[in-house]
Parts: sequence; C-alpha cells; structure tokens
Amino acid sequence: MWNLIRPYIRRGYRVYDGLFGFIYDSLRFVRFGGWPEDMTDPDQRMYNIIMIYHGLEKSLSYKQRNITSGWRQASLLMQLLKISNDAGQVTCHDKAAKQVLEKFISLPENVDIEKSLKIKLQLKELNFFDEANHGVKELTVADFRKGVLESPEDFFCSRYSLREFKEEVVSESLIMRAVKLALKTPSVCNRQAWCIYHTSDSEVKNMVLKYQTGNRPFGERAPNLLLITTDLKAFFAGSEHYQHWIDGGLLAMSLMYALHSLGLASCALNWSQKPVVDMKFRKHLSIKPNHTVILVLLVGFPDENNKVCVSLRRSIEEVFTTLEIKS
Ligand SMILES: Cc1cc2nc3c(=O)[nH]c(=O)nc-3n(C[C@H](O)[C@H](O)[C@H](O)COP(=O)(O)O)c2cc1C
Repeated sequence: MWNLIRPYIRRGYRVYDGLFGFIYDSLRFVRFGGWPEDMTDPDQRMYNIIMIYHGLEKSLSYKQRNITSGWRQASLLMQLLKISNDAGQVTCHDKAAKQVLEKFISLPENVDIEKSLKIKLQLKELNFFDEANHGVKELTVADFRKGVLESPEDFFCSRYSLREFKEEVVSESLIMRAVKLALKTPSVCNRQAWCIYHTSDSEVKNMVLKYQTGNRPFGERAPNLLLITTDLKAFFAGSEHYQHWIDGGLLAMSLMYALHSLGLASCALNWSQKPVVDMKFRKHLSIKPNHTVILVLLVGFPDENNKVCVSLRRSIEEVFTTLEIKS
C-alpha cells in the first residue's frame, strides 16, 4: 500500500516545495526589487540611469534612427543626473550618461530644437565630466575578428568541471582579472546587476559549503570560492521577475570561461535551495539582502593530472531544430 502511494506523496511534495520556492522568490522581489523606482536610492537610480542612457546609446548607433525618438528618455535622464549631482552621489555611470546625453542633443537633427537647448542649459549645471569616450565608437571587422579563436574546439572542449585542485591559493588579483573579463558579459539594458563575493578563507568557505548540497567530498579542498549573485534592485518591471537569474547565469558562464582562458579550473555548485536554507545562510554571511544567490563557484589551479567526468553531451540533432510558424 505504502509503495503504491509513495510516488504520489513525493510528487505532491515536489509541487508544494516548488510553490513555496516561488512564493519565497516573489516575496524577495516585493521586498527588494527595484519596482518602486525610488530615485533617491542611489542603486535604483544608477540602474535606471544605465538603462536610459543605454537606450540613447543604441539610438546613436543605428544607421537609420527614428529622428523623433529618445526625447522622453533624454528629459528623464536629465532629471536623474540632477538628483545625483545635487546629492553628491555621482558614479561613473552618471558621467557616461551625461556625455551620451550631450551627444544625443548634438545630433544634427536635434541640435537646433528647443528641447535640446533646454537640456544643454541644464547640463551646464552638472559639475562632473568624464574624459573617456562614451556613447558609440567605430568597430571594424578587424577589431571584431580579434575574438576569433584559432581553435574554438580546443578552447571549449578543454573546459571541464574540476573537483580537485592544487593546494595553492589563487591570488585575488588573478581572480579579479577573470572577473573583469567576465564583466564584458551582456546584460539586460546593460544593467550589470552582478555582485561577486570572493573568499579563500577556510572558515568562510566551509560556512558556504555547509549550506550547499553537492560539494562533498571535494568542496573543502578548493582553495578559492566565489559566490555569484545579482541585485534585485536592478529589476523594475514585474515582467522582469526572472531576469536576475538569466543575467546572473550568463555572468557565471562567462566567468567560468574567463577562468579557463587564464588557466584556472572551476566547478559550479548549484544554489537550488529551499527558502529556509537560503535564509539561514544569509544569517551567517555578509551577503546584501537584495542580492540573489545564483550559484557557488569553486576555483583553483588544476593539478598536473586530473581525472574528470566525461559528461557526454546530447547530440546536436536532439537540441537543434528549425523554428516554424504553426499551421
Ligand atoms: C548551475 C550548475 C550547478 C552545478 N552544480 C553542481 C554541484 O552542485 N555539484 C557538482 O559536483 N557539480 C555541479 N555542476 C557541474 C556539472 O555537474 C557539470 O557542469 C556537468 O556535469 C558538465 O560537466 P563539465 O562541466 O565537466 O563539462 C553544476 C553545474 C552548473 C552549470
């Protein structure tokens, strides 16, 4: 009898567990999401500024742009830059945004219209600027082709999840180099809502690993540990409720490839955790409440010889198909 009903109980529990997780994630979005668009909050304002000036950047990059577009964003951006300026909370994004706005109002089709002149006057009141070029730049095919690998197969197929490492701790500067490379990852409206926590301290590492279910017996032997998180404050629209997972996942994969390109081994560890575990974990570690944990990454130097899982991949026929209009 028990054997008959057990599968149903297990399945029911899974659905209940999943729903509980959805509720937890929803509540986190309600509590920490950027939906209030509180522009006095420096983080929410920064993400808004990035989103808006990136829209203008795109407008500057089109070969054929709609010459009437961009004005609503331009005046909103102007208001936000004024808030940053007056609050003395100017970030590199305010500086970039100011320059993009200057370029936008200086477009031949915009330069002489009244809205431009008004913004130009307001821009003069901002007491910050940046010498670096922002907005758009020329990219030749030769520039683009610098990314073409001699053997892409060698690069991609030599990455494995390594679960044994040399004892040597990877220097923070090398870790930071990999992170810097990974920061080139694309993100929604270029919001880059990432925060990467790093430790090589055994006590801290073990505290993280205690709450992760998939790192035994190798986890504690990894010299470095990274925690990939994304900031819920960066996401405003309700329809963006999954965006932090997507952007965080993209960054995580870029980081694994960046580490690989520098000769560093890594193993991703899932954070598919029950809400109660996530909450307990946060009590012990200095993770901002608005940061959602995407995954844990073990990092180290590979041993001279390593035994790795073959991890057979699905065939291309299984995963690749033609998209068609339904008849
Ligand atoms: C999001 C994610 C979570 C993972 N979690 C674990 C984990 O908890 N424990 C583990 O040993 N490996 C984990 N892995 C590694 C996978 O098992 C591994 O990537 C997969 O088997 C493919 O092998 P490869 O990375 O060597 O190509 C994870 C990988 C990803 C991308």
